[in-house]
Amino acid sequence: MIEFREVSMTYASGIEALKEVSFRIESGEFVFIIGRSGSGKSTLIKLLTCEIAPSSGRVLIDDYDIGRIRRRHVPYLRRNVGMVFQDFRLIATKTVFENVAFAMEIIGASRKLVRRRVPIVLSIVGLRDKADSMPNQLSGGEQQRVAIARAMVNNPMLILADEPTGNLDPLNSESIMALLEEINRSGTTVIVCTHDTAIVDKMKRRVVEIEDGQVVRDVQAGEYGPGARRCTWTDGVSDGEAGEFTAGASENGTDAFFFPVDDACDAALPSGEGERP
Ligand SMILES: Nc1ncnc2c1ncn2[C@@H]1O[C@H](COP(=O)(O)OP(=O)(O)OP(=O)(O)O)[C@@H](O)[C@H]1O
Ligand SMILES: [Mg+2]
Repeated sequence: MIEFREVSMTYASGIEALKEVSFRIESGEFVFIIGRSGSGKSTLIKLLTCEIAPSSGRVLIDDYDIGRIRRRHVPYLRRNVGMVFQDFRLIATKTVFENVAFAMEIIGASRKLVRRRVPIVLSIVGLRDKADSMPNQLSGGEQQRVAIARAMVNNPMLILADEPTGNLDPLNSESIMALLEEINRSGTTVIVCTHDTAIVDKMKRRVVEIEDGQVVRDVQAGEYGPGARRCTWTDGVSDGEAGEFTAGASENGTDAFFFPVDDACDAALPSGEGERP
């Protein structure tokens, strides 16, 4: 469960990117975050990955206040979160297999587990036969599949995708979204930021719209444009009825998929902490 409680985020420049945003996303939901450029979608995502901390309010994941998380615990949170970006962010010098394997290696997975799991995940995304290819030998759609394989390989509780279809044609976009839906069906919460109206309209999932740092619309089975069925407007913490929660989207610096993992703190915690319950 993800909850934003009256979260405001003002950057050092003085820009108020989020203004007392409150919403809730239940575990296992699939949610689109939409909104104009600069509305605050990526800021929501960065709060969820602890890249930034809120100026005020609380960001909770499973009742844990990640806005106040200790720095050394951040890697434990992040290993439970898979990220997918518009520009794929694969490592150019590694093969497809190695790109996916790397996500396991940085959290200390055994070689045996890597050898077993990476081919399975590559099969799921339809790229088993491309395991030895380099990223520049793949189409955009294939590269994004590798990115999804990498995001899912550690079985995260949450996948955050920021404009995952932004560089893809409609056919590839559909298949990438179908993959995200499949991952969602296995119980992973999926949050997708997008401008892709065709996909949002077609998929009939919950849509949260951000405007000027505020949630202005939150609908189940939503559509991008006007005419969508309106449910409860979000101006407080949800009471659990359908249609009133929301979620964020994403961006990061280069290499962003590889959150800075602090080995020292990994060692400081018992194994298993931060893993999916
Ligand atoms: N690091 C930063 N420092 C200062 N201002 C920032 C920073 N990051 C974002 N902003 C500002 O915060 C506001 C929200 O930005 P954000 O990146 O969250 O928007 P977005 O909805 O993701 O936009 P887009 O659709 O273009 O990706 C914008 O006005 C942006 O200029
Ligand atoms: Mg953005």
